[in-house]
Amino acid sequence: MTTTEGNVRKSESWNSRLGVILAVAGSAVGLGNFLRFPGQAAEYGGGAFMVAYFISLALIGIPICWAEWTMGRYGGQYGFNSSPGIFRLILKHPAGKYLGVLGVVIPVTIYMYYVYIEAWCLGYAVNFLQGGLNFGESVTIDNYINYFNTFIGAAEDGSALGFDINQVGIYIVLVFFLNFFLIYRGIAKGIEFFCTYAMPTLLLLGIIVLIRVLTLGAPNPELPEQSIINGLGHMWNPGNLFEKLKNPQLWIAAAGQIFFSLSVGFGVIITYSSYLSEKDDVVLSGLTATSANEFCEVGLGGMITIPAAFVFLGAAGIAGQGTFGLGFKVLPMVFSQMPAGALFGFIFFFLLFLAAVTSSLSMLQPGIAFLEEGLGINRKQSVAILGLITAMGSMFVVYFSKDMKALDTIDFWVGTFLIYLLATIQIIMFGWVIGIKKGWEEAHKGAEMRIPNIFKVIIKYISPVFLLTILIAFILEKIVGINFETGEFSATGYVADLIGGENHEKSPVALMSVGVIGAVIVFVMILINTAGKRWDKLDEEGKRP
Ligand code: PFF
Repeated sequence: MTTTEGNVRKSESWNSRLGVILAVAGSAVGLGNFLRFPGQAAEYGGGAFMVAYFISLALIGIPICWAEWTMGRYGGQYGFNSSPGIFRLILKHPAGKYLGVLGVVIPVTIYMYYVYIEAWCLGYAVNFLQGGLNFGESVTIDNYINYFNTFIGAAEDGSALGFDINQVGIYIVLVFFLNFFLIYRGIAKGIEFFCTYAMPTLLLLGIIVLIRVLTLGAPNPELPEQSIINGLGHMWNPGNLFEKLKNPQLWIAAAGQIFFSLSVGFGVIITYSSYLSEKDDVVLSGLTATSANEFCEVGLGGMITIPAAFVFLGAAGIAGQGTFGLGFKVLPMVFSQMPAGALFGFIFFFLLFLAAVTSSLSMLQPGIAFLEEGLGINRKQSVAILGLITAMGSMFVVYFSKDMKALDTIDFWVGTFLIYLLATIQIIMFGWVIGIKKGWEEAHKGAEMRIPNIFKVIIKYISPVFLLTILIAFILEKIVGINFETGEFSATGYVADLIGGENHEKSPVALMSVGVIGAVIVFVMILINTAGKRWDKLDEEGKRP
């Protein structure tokens, strides 16, 4: 537990090297791997998406991952564990701390809706076990659509708050309690402890489900083309590769998936690695955590969801279902048609739940670290403050559940747009402010392998240009609303929600959601200002290492 002695924080630390790798991998492996990834890959044409995906992994995913690990460990040596403090240190300018605002805001706001989905997973796991998802012989997809809509309260605002076993309310409370209990116990006894058990368990469960899915064959003898092989083909075949790669949307989606999935560009890895010491390796650890994520994403996520759905419903049945539709409507129906489906349904949703908890924990730690080091408060106080803020935010998301409007709006502005921005800031900070020479020295302290020299050029030039290009394409297409094919402008969904558009009314819930994000940003800015005064004073008194 963190202590404050003579005003100098004595930081916590990880117990073991494997522990930190499992914690970072735990942050990375989440709902993004099992739900978001298959949904995106299928939508953008399987194999072609994968080409853009792997290029993004090499050009931005791995470079930013190393940059974050390195900057985090560096900050930790000076007693800083969150982005505002670390950016202030690196930029050597008092204004630097404000640049770190996104490193607190992004994880905290994502947490507000991520736990809502985490609670769906727990609820579905429980209901598979106790038979709530068994509709007997006369099963149709409509049963599952209705079940989902009632469970999450999609039909009407406020309807998710019931405490029935078939509604999300009770699970939200449980999930909140679990997350804050573990966070309160701290880095080693809470996060590391949980990830050490949860990660191997989820891997095992994932492999069990994978084997079940891959041995499905073609279960309906009347439809032999709906086979597992064709299901895999549906997920992976590239189709008209070069034609598809010309689509900027595909690149935006692939790069966005890399960030979301690896948890890079959020401010979480920087916090986790700040609890390491100079003797600890970051290069190999970063690569190992990344590889673990890719195994779970491509090897498990990519082989389970779409092929399983294809076998039972065919290509037409899974088209246009969207990420949550596939996971929470189509798959439950698929499981219910398999022998021992209730068991496999339980295993799958429990695995999702474990994956989600290890991710949501990582979203809380930057906020906790910032409150403690910025305001000089103890763990109880920081947990209470963050608990209150995130509870209000989650209540907002859960209350405005109609059409998942609040969730969807916050996910777009924070989980998609702001992460590009923070990732760009981070890579420029590493490659240009710290500089490649010093950055390389810092990264290789205690390192067990060397970063190939080609990454010097990638990190300094290619990653920022690649990122900026995608950021600009993203702004033009999704925010300004230009259609790259026709060259016409029109306010697209998320912007039209805020300012109105042709045949598109403004959405008060979307406006409020953006208000919530704005309020969190302003609040954290004010705290950063207060923290800055405290840090200046500590520096003057020479109380920092
Ligand atoms: N990487 C997680 C996933 O794939 O589900 C999501 C995530 C984790 C997002 C941590 C944000 C974060 F801070």
